[in-house]
Amino acid sequence: MTKFSIRTATSADSGFLVDMLMEAMNWLPERNWSRKEILTNPELAHYVTGWMQPGDFGVIAVDLADRPVGAAWCRYLTAADPGYGYVSDDVPELTIGVVESWRNRGVGRALLRAVLYVAHDWGLQAVSLSVERANFAARLYASEGFHTVESFDDADTMVAELAGRRLPGGVRSFVQSEPLTVDELHQQKD
Ligand SMILES: CC(C)(COP(=O)(O)OP(=O)(O)OC[C@H]1O[C@@H](n2cnc3c(N)ncnc32)[C@H](O)[C@@H]1OP(=O)(O)O)[C@@H](O)C(=O)NCCC(=O)NCCS
Repeated sequence: MTKFSIRTATSADSGFLVDMLMEAMNWLPERNWSRKEILTNPELAHYVTGWMQPGDFGVIAVDLADRPVGAAWCRYLTAADPGYGYVSDDVPELTIGVVESWRNRGVGRALLRAVLYVAHDWGLQAVSLSVERANFAARLYASEGFHTVESFDDADTMVAELAGRRLPGGVRSFVQSEPLTVDELHQQKD
């Protein structure tokens, strides 16, 4: 079994989140936006600028040597500065990326479940995201309870409603070493 575990994100993860934002934005092989291009484009940079701000939350997958291998995080964006997956000021938008050598080994699904678990545990009603339709990730999101609420030329906005939802297995079933309790998750965020 591939060994990784998941912890909550802290402000110290800001650089890694930029790395993962680059992976998310450059998912098409022919697209190769540089770090600078992403960080100087307000429509892209606002997913990570000033991490962590109030309301930000996320989870990090780490390997056995504690090196980060993937991240899923949520941020509240506003109607004045909406993300691609914006639905409302009350619904945070999710971004996810996994280091290339770690893909297709279950990390992405585990991160998705973990970040939804945290969101659910904090009483959030919903989480949204934007996915380009050609990205297989759209199927991953659908299989974890996201549904399309708006479609554009080549991208869909998807929402996972959390109220009253029973999330599959909770955190413990997919955190593969040293599972964290929800209290521990909260403490790590503080
Ligand atoms: C999208 C991403 C986060 C998924 O994480 P991952 O660790 O690779 O995904 P998992 O290993 O958990 O696989 C999840 C599902 O997707 C499938 N999958 C994984 N890689 C795939 C690929 N290249 N093509 C098609 N399906 C794939 C898996 O088979 C699995 O489905 P299953 O459980 O039914 O078998 C990751 O691949 C990534 O960072 N990609 C580049 C950035 C990106 O596209 N981010 C999302 C932008 S919206």
